Amino acid sequence: MNRFRLCNLALWLVLGLAVLGMVVSVAWADADKKPAKKKLTGQELYAINCNRCHTERYPTERTPAQWKTIVTHMRVRANLPADQAKAILKYLQEDAGK
Ligand code: HEC
Repeated sequence: MNRFRLCNLALWLVLGLAVLGMVVSVAWADADKKPAKKKLTGQELYAINCNRCHTERYPTERTPAQWKTIVTHMRVRANLPADQAKAILKYLQEDAGK
């Protein structure tokens, strides 16, 4: 094997390793940023957010109309995004009192 061919071989080897390293590191980074994103239910959101300042009220303690007013008011206090407030309201109204 002459020197030129040896040099050529070494070059391809280095290049191959570099590409392999890139593929592996990309695959690793991908595996890292995949925390299972679970969507919380209204009940879970209620338990997490609505007992920080006072105890939770049972859904049956208020009527659906009262819950609407309460969540509109408390959403601001709890600083909740619209979709979470909606999920909480749905949960409370489904189990609300008459
Ligand atoms: C940052 C604190 C805070 C958070 C978070 C909070 N509340 Fe309140 N809540 C209050 C305060 C203070 C009152 C007293 C009345 C008022 O300020 O209007 C109250 C009153 C209430 C009342 C009427 C009083 C009672 O005990 O029956 C209900 C029902 C209620 N909150 C439900 C909720 C719900 C549902 C959530 C979640 C979306 C929530 N709260 C989150 C502070 C909070």
